[in-house]
Amino acid sequence: MTERLPLILLLALHLFVSGVFSTSILTIENKCNKTIWPVVFSWRSKVSTSGFTLKSGEARAIQAPSSWYGLISARTLCSNDSTGNFTCATGDCESGGIECPGAYNWSPVTYLLFRIDDGGINSYTISVEYGYNLPLKVVPSIPTCISSGCMVDLSKTCPNDLKKFVGRDIVACNSACREDNSQENCCTRYFNSKQTCKPTQYVENFDRACPFAYSYAFNDNNSTFTCTNSTDYVITFCPSSIPDTTRSSMAPLPAEPKHNSQGMLNTILGTT
Ligand SMILES: *[C@@H]1O[C@H](CO)[C@@H](O)[C@H](O)[C@H]1NC(C)=O
Ligand SMILES: *[C@@H]1O[C@H](CO)[C@@H](O)[C@H](O)[C@H]1NC(C)=O
Ligand SMILES: *[C@@H]1O[C@H](CO)[C@@H](O)[C@H](O)[C@H]1NC(C)=O
Ligand SMILES: *[C@@H]1O[C@H](CO)[C@@H](O)[C@H](O)[C@H]1NC(C)=O
Ligand SMILES: *[C@@H]1O[C@H](CO)[C@@H](O)[C@H](O)[C@H]1NC(C)=O
Ligand SMILES: *[C@@H]1O[C@H](CO)[C@@H](O)[C@H](O)[C@H]1NC(C)=O
Repeated sequence: MTERLPLILLLALHLFVSGVFSTSILTIENKCNKTIWPVVFSWRSKVSTSGFTLKSGEARAIQAPSSWYGLISARTLCSNDSTGNFTCATGDCESGGIECPGAYNWSPVTYLLFRIDDGGINSYTISVEYGYNLPLKVVPSIPTCISSGCMVDLSKTCPNDLKKFVGRDIVACNSACREDNSQENCCTRYFNSKQTCKPTQYVENFDRACPFAYSYAFNDNNSTFTCTNSTDYVITFCPSSIPDTTRSSMAPLPAEPKHNSQGMLNTILGTT
């Protein structure tokens, strides 16, 4: 029953908006064992929420308007502290509440970047450039549009010095750049080219586990997937499996948008 509701909602939303203007329905599902708190951050246009609670097994459909440009991530292990401030062990947006209305502070979590109806096309990128907290999968509504995902076992994939713990549990993996902010790991200054900025152990581990996620500035160009503008997406946190994107029968890959040595997210934001 809980599985069917989002589909009905999705259909209703689609009927409501179709023919009016080009939007996409993003359905966010929580298949994790625990509650997660998704964050929806907008750089251009706005969606109706900036952060919400999603219990295990729940899903929520949000409508991304034409020209929406934003990111989706998820917070884990959140609670209200003794002063009533809401804080999370991973992905905290530091708003003190469930909504994340202000600026976004990058943290070691798995990011999903979307551009909706950007000149007639949609695109999405899974990024582990700043770190990783939860596995996720993206399934576009149009079968010709590539489905991607990233599923990592943190205890095996994350180098020891980048592991983030809560008690004895590994809850996230930081990126090497975020951990030490060195020019070498962040591909800045003298390390500003593919020749000088080599993938770190972090990048190599994640490239093996998620070959189609964006992991550092000089990644190969296969992390951004484009679809036509009316495509909807189902975004699943903690999917039981991820699509096999390694098949050789795959359609040709679109080129990734340009980004500088600061990394894609920094380029988008103009900040760190
Ligand atoms: C989730 O819970 C189920 C049943 O309790 C367990 O089998 C599974 O390993 C858990 N998964 C994770 C990722 O903790
Ligand atoms: C934290 O407090 C808010 C507001 O009182 C409440 O809605 C929310 O459920 C609480 N969250 C947790 C994890 O206890
Ligand atoms: C609540 O959290 C905000 C943001 O992290 C912080 O600025 C504020 O000082 C906190 N308030 C209390 C009472 O701890
Ligand atoms: C994409 O959007 C443009 C205008 O934004 C519209 O003219 C076109 O019909 C749309 N294409 C699809 C496939 O929805
Ligand atoms: C890019 O795709 C090719 C072939 O599909 C794959 O062999 C390679 O590992 C991928 N590289 C990255 C960094 O994702
Ligand atoms: C990757 O993309 C950049 C800019 O988008 C381009 O300059 C470069 O030639 C591309 N590399 C490959 C291997 O396609």
